Amino acid sequence: MGRFRTEKDSDYFKVVDDAINAYTWAAIVKLQEKGVVGDVLGPVGQGKEAKLILAKRDDGYVVLKVFYPVPVRFVKSRYSYILGDPRFRGLKISDQLHLVEVWCRKEFGNLSRAYSAGVRVPRPYGFYRNVLVMQFIGVDRNPAPLLAEVRLEDLDDVDHVFYEVVKNLEKTYVVAGLVHGDLSPFNILYDGENPWFIDWGSAVRRGHPKELEYLRRDVERVLEFFGNPVSPQELFKRLVERGAWRGGVDVDEEGWLLVGGRRLLE
Ligand SMILES: Nc1ncnc2c1ncn2[C@@H]1O[C@H](COP(=O)(O)OP(=O)(O)O)[C@@H](O)[C@H]1O
Ligand SMILES: [Mg+2]
Repeated sequence: MGRFRTEKDSDYFKVVDDAINAYTWAAIVKLQEKGVVGDVLGPVGQGKEAKLILAKRDDGYVVLKVFYPVPVRFVKSRYSYILGDPRFRGLKISDQLHLVEVWCRKEFGNLSRAYSAGVRVPRPYGFYRNVLVMQFIGVDRNPAPLLAEVRLEDLDDVDHVFYEVVKNLEKTYVVAGLVHGDLSPFNILYDGENPWFIDWGSAVRRGHPKELEYLRRDVERVLEFFGNPVSPQELFKRLVERGAWRGGVDVDEEGWLLVGGRRLLE
């Protein structure tokens, strides 16, 4: 399993931008051996700290989100999300290699939790080291655009998309017990009909010290895209109230949560 660090580690991590390094290839091969992934087809997306690669699985497509094992920047931007998360209490982050794997595992855990709660997210299939495998959202081999790349007037049904975003935001908080933490039109895919929440690495569990700060920011960023059809303060307040509800929760025929028998938006 583990490997010892040697003077050669710098070579091991060398090629990060336009090809996949040895460390990542080994992880992909492992996922293929486990039957999680089939043939690897090629790059389909680029994130700030990850590359997205299209691969086959059974009869369909999946994407591999490959986190770059790039040291310094990674630590700066992500350390604060891991600290303060009760799931990682006691973790000794001894080196960069370990941290990138912790991050990948954390994103997989958050994604799985959101998926189980019925939030519309890519289905998670597995992960190994710095490679996360999930459902590909797109048509044929073309990835769905980000909501940020779609103009409001080009949406088929703005109200529908807005309500779906709000429903998913609420399920994330009330059912999954998570705050996404980096929600914005840049982390929502639009498949021509519905929004999909992606990029769950920054999500925190309820109880995290920054829970409310992140929730407020998520609410503000998504509502702004739609021109604030409801007040962000009001929506934030209602979400917090509904999150505190201790009774049962139902879902109605349109997919709205019923908390104490009532929808978030009437
Ligand atoms: N499941 C997916 N299906 C299709 N495209 C995806 C999927 N997940 C991510 N992408 C594409 O890859 C890009 C980067 O993914 P993201 O998870 O947001 O990475 P980062 O953390 O670097 O922002 C996204 O903006 C999107 O275009
Ligand atoms: Mg992103």
